[in-house]
Amino acid sequence: MRNQQTKQWVVDNDVDSVLTSTEILEAAQQIIHNHVVAFPTETVYGLGGNAKSDEAITRIFAAKGRPSDNPLIVHIATKDQVEKYVEQIPAKARQLMDAFWPGPLTIVFRHNHTLSTKVTAGLPTVAIRMPDHPVALALIHAADLPIAAPSANRSGRPSPTTAAHVNDDLNGRIAGILDGGPTGVGVESTVVDCSSEDVMILRPGGATKEAIERVIGEITVDPALTQLDEAPRSPGMKYTHYAPTAPLTLVDGDFRYFCEKINDARAEGKKVGALITDEYRGETNATKEVLLGSVNNLSTVAKQLYPSLRSFAEDEVDVIFAQVFPETELGSAIMNRLRKAAGGTVVRQR
Ligand code: TXA
Ligand code: MG
Repeated sequence: MRNQQTKQWVVDNDVDSVLTSTEILEAAQQIIHNHVVAFPTETVYGLGGNAKSDEAITRIFAAKGRPSDNPLIVHIATKDQVEKYVEQIPAKARQLMDAFWPGPLTIVFRHNHTLSTKVTAGLPTVAIRMPDHPVALALIHAADLPIAAPSANRSGRPSPTTAAHVNDDLNGRIAGILDGGPTGVGVESTVVDCSSEDVMILRPGGATKEAIERVIGEITVDPALTQLDEAPRSPGMKYTHYAPTAPLTLVDGDFRYFCEKINDARAEGKKVGALITDEYRGETNATKEVLLGSVNNLSTVAKQLYPSLRSFAEDEVDVIFAQVFPETELGSAIMNRLRKAAGGTVVRQR
């Protein structure tokens, strides 16, 4: 239901003025009263609510249309706030906080039962991060509360990297949107589980495995992440997230193979979208090419990924083919999101 007046607050990202900005203070009042507002972080826009309030968290799940068994990330403004919500801070978690916060790394701890059980979906653990964005930090300061925030998209849609994306998905469903301009990283934070001895990456993201390993040594990656990589799977499975308006297929092969896939679909009379890097520009026979930047600059690809997935308009294409990326550095997060957008559908060159 889109039956709410959604306020639009445009804020300047200037670090000095942001703390006293009336827009931020107004948005913080909404949070204090257990309403939900979208705000920019360095990764993607979040949909924030008071992490201590069941009422606020219920509103977040309702606005997103998100299943309530998927827990939320709690955002804090200073490192010492972690202690208020967790049983203890393990040594490796402390090292990661010192190395990456503020920044795109979320750490999972055992919690101490002070937050809403709806935030943690009833789990014994809680995911916490300190975002590296002046507007996010100022909002948390002004509300003086921990802010639970999933990405501010309708469930299943690509995450929003601009206030306009949030508006498309959530206008009329939330109290307001703080517009701080486009986000920087473009993919969500990396989630690292530090709640047991076996420290593990649960979701690849803005902080790379390589960078994490430089701080705490070798780390395992949740095997469930790579299982998705198995053989072609049919679309529309439970993995479908970040879904564009037409079915997406990942093409694991060279340029000639990529073009073959496009030509086959064209021959069937389909309108074809191509999600490609600049190197393929103008060289495919696609109906519409959407460019992700150079294959040699994965931070641009990460930044362009969600806006690009959103840029295929309804009815514009029947199918979308996307290039694959090397799974090192930011490439791991990019491929994880592309696989989910494809619902596991990958075609491979023999
Ligand atoms: O960059 C980000 O992380 C963005 C911005 C807004 O901060 N937030 C975000 O939230 O991506 P969301 O809700 O879309 O993703 C949260 C992820 C989910 O995969 C969820 O399953 C996982 O974190 N998560 C949350 N709490 C957890 C917990 N206690 N244990 C394991 N995973 C958890
Ligand atoms: Mg999300």
